[in-house]
Amino acid sequence: MLETVGMTDYDVVVIGSGVGGYTAAIRASQLGLKTACVEGNSVLGGTCLNNGCIPSKSLLHATGLFDFARTKFAEFGIRVSPKFDLSIMMSQKQASVDALGRSIEDLFDKNGVDRIEGWARLNCSGRISVRRAEQTKVTLSARHVVIATGSIPSSLPGVVVDQNRIVDSTGALALREPPRRLLIIGAGCIGLELGSVWRRLGSDVEVVEAHDRIIPGADEEISRALRGILEKQNLRFRLLTMALDALAGEDEVVVRVRNLADGTIRSLKADVVLSAVGRQPFVGDLGLEAIGLSLDKQGFIPTEPFATAVPGIWAVGDVTRGPMLAHKAEDEAIACIELLAGRPGRMDYDVIPNVIYTSPEVAWVGETEAEVRTSGRGYRVGRFPFSANSRARLAHESEGFVKVISSREDYRILGVHMIGPQASEIIGEACVAMAFQADGEDVARTCHPHPTRSEALRQAAMGAEGWMTQA
Ligand code: NAI
Repeated sequence: MLETVGMTDYDVVVIGSGVGGYTAAIRASQLGLKTACVEGNSVLGGTCLNNGCIPSKSLLHATGLFDFARTKFAEFGIRVSPKFDLSIMMSQKQASVDALGRSIEDLFDKNGVDRIEGWARLNCSGRISVRRAEQTKVTLSARHVVIATGSIPSSLPGVVVDQNRIVDSTGALALREPPRRLLIIGAGCIGLELGSVWRRLGSDVEVVEAHDRIIPGADEEISRALRGILEKQNLRFRLLTMALDALAGEDEVVVRVRNLADGTIRSLKADVVLSAVGRQPFVGDLGLEAIGLSLDKQGFIPTEPFATAVPGIWAVGDVTRGPMLAHKAEDEAIACIELLAGRPGRMDYDVIPNVIYTSPEVAWVGETEAEVRTSGRGYRVGRFPFSANSRARLAHESEGFVKVISSREDYRILGVHMIGPQASEIIGEACVAMAFQADGEDVARTCHPHPTRSEALRQAAMGAEGWMTQA
């Protein structure tokens, strides 16, 4: 029996403290609503902070520096023989995670959000009971509940993750040494980013992918270019190859794969296998059935701009449909809270950027060329190579290009796709332009600082208008 230790009334109770959850809680408090955020883990921040975006980008940054020192410093006249210390790489990663976790706690304090530690369960009387580690239970009541419980890695039936020989993204962020042979199932964001990390530290990396190309959701030209660049970095790809199962032994893992072109099955061997085949929504033991809330076929909570079928219950982020991205969750959280507070909250699903933090980075926003072509609309494409961008050239980072697709009818920018240095930073400019429904011409005629990599975007926008000046 759990001992009940208290009961508190709130305007808003947010369940989950990932990017969607903590943003919702902070915004609700800012709007004068009495708010609590319930989190079962002892640390705030959810997947993004603890097992996702932040630790992976930390390792990508550290290994990227190592790789750059190893392969590029000599080109600049700097002679070094770099060595890496994996335990320091891991501890500095954890220090960043911890510091960012504390800053969420500070933001809760500053904004007056009550943090409630424990696992929330909804019950039919509209209450939320929170089970805490010390076998006590608090009961909360709220006018509005926002579910922001996120997602967990999907798994293949025959590939059982043991976080030792067969790991998911969480395990792959904490390996104690670079595996000699790393086999990755899935050439999506996680496979390519974590494959890059371990390749830079010496692993022999092979990626199997069921589709006929890597990052199947990206523009085809970008995905082809990235594949070529990653192959030069010694990542190996087996496309049209479906992983069937994996058997972990004492010393190695055997993965059976089917070649989807000819149907043949073969076995591949590796020291460690990373399963990176997507993520699925996570609702845990929330008690949704008790309140009459059903999930859709894929396990998402259906929402009609953030409102579920049960009055007063809202949902945002990975637990709802759409791309499983931290920034999508963040924007939904703000729009959801503004709506429930009676304000005109809105979310622009056409302007959600994607980034893959490989080297060089890939970033895009809006429609791919194939999507525009299929829709039958007339369009123009401007392409500008980073080899013609002065800042990229002087930094010896001239691989890649920017591609701007604009409408022939109303000149609006329909999509921006790039592969190149700092693409993750440049894409924000394309997002602002598209959010303001800019034409290619608007970006082309906006003064950009020189020499910067962002000029490549301007040039590609000029290209879509037919008057590129630097290539
Ligand atoms: P993903 O959906 O991006 O890629 C999974 C890949 O696995 C797909 O290409 C799929 O065709 C392939 N696949 C599935 N089953 C397979 C099988 N049996 N054999 C061979 N290939 C198979 O999923 P990923 O990379 O696991 O990422 C999960 C989520 O996390 C994504 O929704 C992504 O948006 C998010 N994420 C975002 C990042 C970023 O924004 N930089 C970084 C990491 C993750």
